[in-house]
Amino acid sequence: MSAIIMDGKALSEKIREKVKARSAVLAGRGITPCLAVILVGEDPASLSYVNSKEKALAAAGMESRDIRLPADTAEDALLLLIGGLNRDEKVHGILVQLPLPKHISEEKVISAIAPEKDVDCFHPVSVGNMMLGRQGFLPCTPAGVLALLREYNIPVSGSHAVVVGRSNIVGKPLANLLIRRELNATVTVCHTGTKDLARYTLEADILIAAAGMPGVIKPDMVKEGATVIDVGVNRVEDASAKKGYRICGDVDIAVAEKAGYITPVPGGVGPMTIAMLLENVALAAERVKERS
Ligand code: GUN
Repeated sequence: MSAIIMDGKALSEKIREKVKARSAVLAGRGITPCLAVILVGEDPASLSYVNSKEKALAAAGMESRDIRLPADTAEDALLLLIGGLNRDEKVHGILVQLPLPKHISEEKVISAIAPEKDVDCFHPVSVGNMMLGRQGFLPCTPAGVLALLREYNIPVSGSHAVVVGRSNIVGKPLANLLIRRELNATVTVCHTGTKDLARYTLEADILIAAAGMPGVIKPDMVKEGATVIDVGVNRVEDASAKKGYRICGDVDIAVAEKAGYITPVPGGVGPMTIAMLLENVALAAERVKERS
C-alpha cells in the first residue's frame, strides 16, 4: 500500500490566505506588518531561502525590509544594525538568515534581537518561553510540522514520536513541543550518537527525520502504517538536473510504500516553514497593536 501524501504546499497556501486576511485587518488600522530580512554574504542556498521569504511576505500584503550585507561585514556593524531595527517601531520582526560567516558569532547576533521581534524563535529567551509554554513565538519549522499533523488528523496524544536530529532549529524544539500536555506524545530523540538507529525508528508511530542526511531513513527502518515527516532539505549532485543538483530529503523515497502518511520533498515541510514565519510576523504586528 502506498502512503497518503501530506501536501504541505496546499496547506501552506491555505495558511498564507488566512495571514493575508489578517494583514488586511491590520492595514485597516494603519499597520503594515514588516519583517527585516538580513542576509550576510552570498551563500546560494541562503539567498534562495531569503528570496522565497521576501516573495511570500509581499504576497501576504506584508512589507520586507531587505538588507543584504557583504560577507566581510564586521560583527559590531551587524549588532548595531539589529539595535536600530529593535528600536524601529515600523519593524515588527527581525530575521537574520543563518549560517553567518565564520568571523561573526551567531550566538551574539541572535541574542541581540529583541525577543518580541524574534519571529524565528532562536533567542534564548524565546526558546525558554517556548519550553515553558509562555507567550512568545513557536519556531517556524516545528510549528509547520505540527500544523501538518493537525491537518491530516494524525493522532499525536499517546503516540510514540521519534525525532531523528537534535538541531537547535528543529530537533530540540520539536521534541519539546511534542511533549506538551496538549500534544501528549512520548518522544524519543535520536542523533549521531545513537547506536542502532533502526531499533528506535521501528517503534515510531510518528517518525520525524531532521538529520540533514540524504536518504538515511530506509523502508526497513519504518513501522508499517507510520506517519513519516521528512524535514530534510539536502542538495545532492545530479549531473542530469538543470542546476547540477537536486533537493532530496532524509527519507528514502521507497519509504512511501510502507508508511501510512508521508511528506514529500519538496512540497512537504519546506513551504510550511515559510507559512509559519508569515503567521509569526502577523502575530508580532498584532501584539504591538495590543500593547499600545
Ligand atoms: N537557516 C536555515 N533555516 C533557517 C531559518 O529557519 N531561519 C533563519 N534565520 N536561518 C535559517
